[in-house]
Amino acid sequence: MTTRNDTRGKAQIYLDQAATSFQKPPEVLRAMSEHMLNRGGNPGRGSHRLALAAAEEVYACREAASALFDLGHPERVIFTMNTTQALNLALRGFLSKGDHVLCSDLEHNSVFRPLWAMQKEGRITFDIFSTFVASPLRNEEMILQDLERRIRPNTKMVVCAHASNLCSSVLPLEAIGHLCRRRGILFVVDAAQSAGVYEISMRRMGIDALCVPAHKGLMGPQGVGMLLLGEGITPTPLIFGGNGVDSLSGDMSEDMPEAYEAGTLPGAGISGLRAGMGFITRVGLDNIHRHEEKLGNRVKTALLRMPHVSVYAPHLEGGVVLFSVDGMTSEEVGAFLDRHGICVRPGFHCCALGHKTLKTPDEGAVRASFGYFNTEKECDYLITAVGLLG
Ligand code: ALA
Repeated sequence: MTTRNDTRGKAQIYLDQAATSFQKPPEVLRAMSEHMLNRGGNPGRGSHRLALAAAEEVYACREAASALFDLGHPERVIFTMNTTQALNLALRGFLSKGDHVLCSDLEHNSVFRPLWAMQKEGRITFDIFSTFVASPLRNEEMILQDLERRIRPNTKMVVCAHASNLCSSVLPLEAIGHLCRRRGILFVVDAAQSAGVYEISMRRMGIDALCVPAHKGLMGPQGVGMLLLGEGITPTPLIFGGNGVDSLSGDMSEDMPEAYEAGTLPGAGISGLRAGMGFITRVGLDNIHRHEEKLGNRVKTALLRMPHVSVYAPHLEGGVVLFSVDGMTSEEVGAFLDRHGICVRPGFHCCALGHKTLKTPDEGAVRASFGYFNTEKECDYLITAVGLLG
């Protein structure tokens, strides 16, 4: 149950889990305070006991991430500030002048804007493949065929979101990864919405670089992300500075992971992320996504019966429901729901491509997104409130 009282004592129902997960498991909070209270040295800087304790914790988090995403190399888990920074590192670090890139028609601005900027700089070109998200007939074969026919001799990379932040679309990573392997193309995955919800195996799925946030499905805090790099994958670093090794040299050490981690790491955040991954592993990904899917489907089924409501990609099953209400802007609907204590996200969700693909109204749409701690009762509050708008 994520219903809480706000500072004015009013109940809040949090259905904006795609933006950031809330509430967090208690062990995440405990792990973060443990760092602040007892382990507060700077990880990787110095060799006194508190620095070493912090460094051990950071390494344990790399091990947990490497195991969860089947990377097999903890030292290839790079900490970043968020998924966007991980994606920028992967895109800018791999692509050079003349390269061509393919991304999907549901990409978040975290993928679209770096590609757009690099295209404007005259560095790369990119094309968009179809996810056929609006078609109830869509299947893996359709997506693969569309992707394959857009590959050019200079296509260097395919980059796509595993799960959409707008609707319940999930892409067939394994099939796309194998296609990329066959054609010698790098495969970069934005797992912002899927990490901690759906299984991801980097080795089986042929993923070269996986970009992950701590603060969504992994139940950790904001301000931490990860870039997991497959074997032999070495993008050019994005930022330069101190990393605790080879301090006398002007060159950054090429050791992993230090080559990509200039500046102090977020120790408390990494402890929270590790605890969040422990929670996910204990509960099980199947239980998590089945629960989210059950809630999403409950809301979607009810909204589809309301003549004043349009649901986008209604055939998709999952924990993200995008809808609009006749005669109201998405902001008006969001404000109305907020007055009833229900937190959803209206607008464009930093995803211009996806809104265009889903043909939402000019004022955007309303997104309700569900997490492991949400309940059917909370869904029913939302359904009743939207019903009042008819
Ligand atoms: N990308 C996040 C969202 O979709 C913030 O809301």
